[in-house]
Formats: sequence, C-alpha cells, structure tokens
Amino acid sequence: MKVLTLDSREAAGAAGAALVRDCVEAKPDAVLGFATGSSPLPLYDALAEFGLDFSRVRGFALDEYVGLPPGDPRSYAAVIDTEVVRRLGLRPGSVRVPDVAAADLDEAARDYERAIRAAGGVDLQILGIGHNGHLAFNEPGAALDSRTRVEQLAERTRRANARFFDSPDQVPTRCLTQGIGTILDARELLLIAHGADKADIIARALQGPVSPDCPASALQLHPRVTVLLDRAAAAGLPTGFATGSAAGEGGQ
Ligand code: GLP
Repeated sequence: MKVLTLDSREAAGAAGAALVRDCVEAKPDAVLGFATGSSPLPLYDALAEFGLDFSRVRGFALDEYVGLPPGDPRSYAAVIDTEVVRRLGLRPGSVRVPDVAAADLDEAARDYERAIRAAGGVDLQILGIGHNGHLAFNEPGAALDSRTRVEQLAERTRRANARFFDSPDQVPTRCLTQGIGTILDARELLLIAHGADKADIIARALQGPVSPDCPASALQLHPRVTVLLDRAAAAGLPTGFATGSAAGEGGQ
C-alpha cells in the first residue's frame, strides 16, 4: 500500500488525477470505478483540467440510493452525470449506476456484477471512506467478500449525508451498493480522504485489524492500493507511515 500525505485536498486531488491520467493514457478504453461524495471532487476538478480523451473510457458507480425519484439531483446517477460524464467528456451512458428502478433489486444487483465482469473488470477504482469506515455503502458488519446487493444505510451515514437533503429524514434508508469483494476485484484502488473528521477512521482502516467492523480495512488485503490524504486526514497515522511526496512509498 502506498500512502501519501499532501499539503491540501487540492494537492491530493491532483495526485489522484495524475494516477487516473496514467491509467487512461496506458489504456484508452479503461474501465474506471467512480465514487460520489465530497472526497473525489478535487480529483475530478483536476482531471477535468487535463482535457484527456475519455471517449473510449467506460465506468461503474459504486452505489446508488433506493427510493429517490428518477432524475433526482441528489441521486448518484445525477451526480455521476454532472461531475464525471459531462465534466470529463465521457460518452453519455458510458458510466453505469446500479438500477434502483428495477422491479427486482436483487436481480439488478446480480446484473450489475455481470455487467462489471462483461466489461472485463474495473481497472482503477476511486474510493472515499465514510466516518464509520464504510466503503461505497458497505456499512460496518458487511462481509469482506460481499457482492453487489441491497443494503440498509447506517444512521451515522444518513446523518452525514443529510447535508445534501433539506432534512435528515429525506435521506433514503436503503441503497444498492457494490460489495467489498466486488471492490477488491478491481485491479487498482485509489482511496482519497481529507479533513480532520476522517483522521481516526483512516488510522483504523490502514493500521487496525482487517475486520468487517471497519469495512475499509479490507484495503489492506489488496495488492495495489494508493491512499491520498491531506495533512488533517493523515493526523492519526504515526510519523513515517505516510510519505509527503507523490513519488514516495509509505505504509508498510
Ligand atoms: C457516501 C458514499 C461513499 C463515500 C462516502 C464518503 O455516503 N456512499 O461512496 O465514499 O460516503 O463521503 P464523503 O466523501 O462525502 O465524505
């Protein structure tokens, strides 16, 4: 695992964008895994500046709320369309999001897994981390080999995401999420986190025991992971655990 601490969230985003650029330059039809939430936004900002050719890139979102009306601007489908597809210039429809409008959500989950496999798997998966250690919407307790499925959102997650809604009770209670096993199948993982409120969970995820109690600890099982932090998010890690330059190795 490579763990890098950058001076700011913008610098962490720029370092992440450079990794995505390298991936797409090496493989113009790469399959990218896109995360929503605040964490990857500086990465998408920096990536948009590169003006890369994304016309052959395909992608998969990590998760989606169940219960929002189609086209709701708070749905992850809408966020992916605005922040990723239009901004980066991907072809319309080239990023798939779990189909929460399906009559049979369990079948939609299985279909999502099939679609990822049919695309040849994910080359590079961008990830954020929840305050309780969730990856995508895999809340504490999720099996480390879990696959795409319907999940209940933890109350803490609903509270954290209430900032995108008019009131906390509008936050959906269910979602369709890639499983931890699904995420670990990606050939490369890129976790980005910033802010003092992520310091404790970053330390637990990267240094604590690998356990369903902290789903993001599963990152320790993957052979090719880069973690990009700003100084505040790295504050719980021991000195020397993370390097300060985008060129260095750290973490083990
Ligand atoms: C959300 C998403 C995750 C995201 C995480 C952190 O609820 N489902 O994919 O990584 O929580 O969000 P943020 O980056 O806004 O802190």
